[in-house]
Formats: sequence, C-alpha cells, structure tokens
Amino acid sequence: MKKILVSTGGGDCPGLNAVIRGIFKAAKKSKEWEVWGCMEALNGLDADPPEIVKLTAKRTAGIHVKGGTILKTSNTANPLAYPVVQKDGSIKRINRIPELAKKVQQLGFDALINIGGDGSQTISQALYENGLNVIGVPKTIDNDLSATDLTFGFTTAVQIASDCFDKLVTTAESHHRVMIMEVMGRDAGWIALHTAVAGGAEICLLPEIPYDLDKIVKRIRKRFNKRKGFVNIVIAEGAKPLGGKVVGRAAATAKDEHLKLGGVCNALRYELEQHPDMPKVQVRSTILGHIQRGGTPMAFDRILATSMGVKAFELVAAGDFGKMVSFQNNELTSVPIKEAIVEYNFVSKDHYLVHVARSIGIAFGD
Ligand code: F6P
Repeated sequence: MKKILVSTGGGDCPGLNAVIRGIFKAAKKSKEWEVWGCMEALNGLDADPPEIVKLTAKRTAGIHVKGGTILKTSNTANPLAYPVVQKDGSIKRINRIPELAKKVQQLGFDALINIGGDGSQTISQALYENGLNVIGVPKTIDNDLSATDLTFGFTTAVQIASDCFDKLVTTAESHHRVMIMEVMGRDAGWIALHTAVAGGAEICLLPEIPYDLDKIVKRIRKRFNKRKGFVNIVIAEGAKPLGGKVVGRAAATAKDEHLKLGGVCNALRYELEQHPDMPKVQVRSTILGHIQRGGTPMAFDRILATSMGVKAFELVAAGDFGKMVSFQNNELTSVPIKEAIVEYNFVSKDHYLVHVARSIGIAFGD
C-alpha cells in the first residue's frame, strides 16, 4: 500500500473535516492507498514518536458535518521562518523545510496533501521544491485566494455573519441606534461585502476601500430624522480610515508572526461619537470574531470540501504533484501551487457585487 499524509494548517475553517473524509473515502476505494493524518499542521512531525494517526472508516465516520478539524491545526511556528532562541536571547529564524521534507519521506509517505490558506500553500510549494510529492487544498473563510473562485468555509462564515447582522438590525431599529458589526477579513473584505448585501446594511467598510469618516457621518445623518431612524454598519477587521492604520496588536510570541486584528469597530464607534456633525444618537459595536470560523459547515461547503478532498486524492493517484485543487467556473480543476500563491483575491472597486451594493444604496465611505 502507498501512503498519503494529510495535514490541516492555518486558522481552522468549516469544511476541513469534509475534505479529510473525502480524501480518505476516495483513497479507500482505490485499494492502493492508505491515508494518515499529521496532527496540528506539520508540528506532529516534531514529536517523538511523530504524532501521526492512521485514518480509518471509524475515525472519519460522520465528520463532514463537524466544524474544526479532527487533525487539529496551528497558524504559528512557520517552518519557513522558524524562531530559534539564541544564547544571547535573540531570535534567529531558520528554514526547516528541507528537514521536514526529509522526515515525511523517511516515515515512508509517498505524498502529502496540505490543506491550508496562502501561508500553508507557500509551505506546500517549498516542500514540493524540496522533493516532496505535494498537493495543496485551499482553505480560508476570507476567500482571499485568487486561484480559486471559492474556498469552502466562506459561505458558512457569511451565513453566520448574516444571521448575526439580522439580529443587530432588529435591536438597532428598536433603539434608533447605529450598530457596527465587525467581521473577519484581514486583507480582503469578501465576508463584509457579502454580509452587507445579504443583510441590507447602510454602510460597508472594507480593507480595500479606506473610509472617509465625514462621508460615513453624512450617510448616517441621512438616515436619522430628529433622532428617528437606525443604521447598520458592517466593517471588516482590516478596514482603515483614509491615511490611517489597521487596528490590531503584535502577536505575543515569536512563533506567531501575525498581527492580531480586532477592534476596528470600537475605534470607529469612538470616532463617530466624537464627530461634530454626528446626530445625537447612540452607537454600539459588536465583534463577531471566531464565531465565524466555528460550528457546522453549511451544505454547500460540505459539498465543496468533499469534492476538493476527492480531487486532491485523484491528483495524488495521477502523480500530478505541485498542484493546488481549485474551483473555477463551477468545475473542479487544479493550478500549480506556485501560481496560486502569487496573487491575493482582493475586492476590486469594479466587482459586480460592489456595484450591486452601491445600486441598493450601501455606502463604502469613499
Ligand atoms: O485568515 C483567516 C482569519 O480568519 C483572519 O480573517 C483573521 O485575522 C485571522 O484568521 C485570525 O486568526 P487567529 O486564529 O490567529 O486569531
């Protein structure tokens, strides 16, 4: 039997388990491959003995409906720039990719399927260039990978955000308030844009379109007549004012390179409350945070994730390595990982949904 190692890396995302199950089921049917899982991204390789588990029908039964990942995950300890503390306390970053590629081969694996976002796929490409047979499966709730029309988990995140938005609308209306809801979206505002259209927001603020506070206030004024009215704003965590910076704080440990975003809704609330032209109304803010990443994937995401798992196995079986599974024009296909990690999928100002949003009166603060 030939052996596949599967890992899930980066932030978790509804649908990861459906991919794992899809790979396992397709591999089992082939009768030629067995599938193993590496625990906590590739960190499982560092344990002694390595934390790898053989996937079985029992282990994967029914997992497609469950959020999270049975293999656990991690978005820290990037093996491309792994922090090693030196004698003088300083940190030296080393490339652990050649070592990891060797480990996977020494453990007898013929292929690695790495499920993850742009960071994980950069690791996939480096492992591939170091001689490992790698297939990538794209994952991110942010939908910010350009080589695929959609990533699983995104639709579920939008549904969760829309459900929360609907709840904030009724309370905004009852109190004649301005409600600001912050959603995830570090560099790309797809969740915010889709939620704003689905929910009927008055204002939608994205990382790609820096906002002008005066214009937001003007839009709010329009909605209030003698304090009657209400406004619902969706803001992506990576949104920023014109000439301003994102709101976040540096990660607490050297192993975590990512700026921790969160709180831009509170900054906006404060700016609105201080603005001289703001109607005298109350403003409240809500951060959805990781709620958007948790729980059961929607049917659509289960289907997309399962399909991507099957496709990933087929690429392995065909020996078509160095590829990332992709969903384009309603078809499953694949692209070289190298190309998939070059460009980000940003919301462009001329995207059809931005046009639709503007046409129904949603303001972007520009
Ligand atoms: O990349 C996906 C994402 O959900 C971003 O939108 C967000 O900034 C980040 O993950 C949060 O990650 P963490 O789990 O480190 O808080």
